[in-house]
Amino acid sequence: MAAPSYLLTNGPRDALVPFSSRLKEGRALAEDVWSIYNVANLPADCINLGQGYMNFLPPKWVTEAASKALLGVTENHYSHPKGRMRLRQALKSMYSPLFNRDLDVESEILVTSGANEGQYSVFTAFLEQGDEVIMFEPFFDQYLPSITFNGGTPVYVPLHPPKADVKKPTSNQWTIDLAELRAAITPRTKMIIVNTPHNPVGKVFSRQELEGIAALAEEFNLLVMSDEVYETLTFDGEEHVRIATLPGMWDRTVTVGSAGKQFAATGWRVGWLIGPASIIRPTLAATTRIVFCTNSPLQEAAAAGIEEAEKRGYYAQQRAEYTERRKILTDVFDALGLTYSLPLGSYFILVDIRKVQFPDDFPFPPSVLGRARDFRVAWFIATEIGVSSIPVSEFYCEEHASIGEAFIRFSFCKDHETLHRAAERLQQKLEKYIVQ
Ligand SMILES: Cc1ncc(COP(=O)(O)O)c(C=O)c1O
Repeated sequence: MAAPSYLLTNGPRDALVPFSSRLKEGRALAEDVWSIYNVANLPADCINLGQGYMNFLPPKWVTEAASKALLGVTENHYSHPKGRMRLRQALKSMYSPLFNRDLDVESEILVTSGANEGQYSVFTAFLEQGDEVIMFEPFFDQYLPSITFNGGTPVYVPLHPPKADVKKPTSNQWTIDLAELRAAITPRTKMIIVNTPHNPVGKVFSRQELEGIAALAEEFNLLVMSDEVYETLTFDGEEHVRIATLPGMWDRTVTVGSAGKQFAATGWRVGWLIGPASIIRPTLAATTRIVFCTNSPLQEAAAAGIEEAEKRGYYAQQRAEYTERRKILTDVFDALGLTYSLPLGSYFILVDIRKVQFPDDFPFPPSVLGRARDFRVAWFIATEIGVSSIPVSEFYCEEHASIGEAFIRFSFCKDHETLHRAAERLQQKLEKYIVQ
């Protein structure tokens, strides 16, 4: 028998079978910002304010529920693909008043493996090849490959930063231009993603803005994916408005939530979708064939968390704690004379870095050199000052990257001690590189 032709070639054996061209889309193969600014690439004592995960434990009563769940037989096995009944019931109790309707645990609530997988499954369920999905920039980077892997085409509409003469901007001064949004809609547009409170801007969309988006969704018959994973993190009395509660919007909106954000447990991978049966049923079909079900014990723990949270005043306390964390950073940026957008939601601060001047001969690695200026500033601050952040141009398409390159993002989902140490370093070492 003749040898198979691939064995006859003398080429390298590390790529015998080509991988799918799908990975060339959605920046899936590009060295992503998380790898470049990974702690492994940075000095060992660099303080990580880059990635948006907490360096503290979930509440004790939630981790105790997780430990307990591991001792039960059914909790160690497959759950129903819709999610465990206890969690669906807890979500029903929490969200029915927030959506002004008696949510049906069978057809209007779906537990997913983190918000990410829930969003992926919605794309799988709804996108035809070439369907367009509109997202506001800067955008949560995971949307992009989730859309393209499912045959969709991303379309970008930028949020506009506060005007340069605004001395103390808030995140809500990042604005949408409804005319631009309208112009982005084509006969192929299927969906709009709204993210409020927003990562990375911290913007909490106003009722008026959401009404404007809703009117266009209605006019052009679009599905709205409302990513509200930071829903419990709004500050200074800012109201979180749910687009699904606006007139007529329930029927075309799927709302996305995450236990990871609510309970400081991003590694649990428990999230959920809430929406009409017409959206949840097809998405259930997709999610069942992607993951079958979400891990069982941590669904129980998330259920315990939600059941107890209001009774314990947990969300109010969490908001107060995050407000304090935010202040540790904003105090130092004030002292340094750096402009930032005061975030009214989520746990990120965008700092304007146009005044930061790094030395011309600073040794940047190639992964940073080919990118927009914010990549260099973030690298310089991480390696020279010892505090990591994330360059914001990463959250824009190439065409609009120049809007993002004026900002870097710091996460304040860290304990007080870490934030104080970071503030101290910034205060002591960054000042001399700021040109007022
Ligand atoms: C806006 C936004 N949506 C979704 C997610 C993903 O949430 P999860 O960890 O539940 O998948 C994140 C996580 O950072 C996020 O920032």
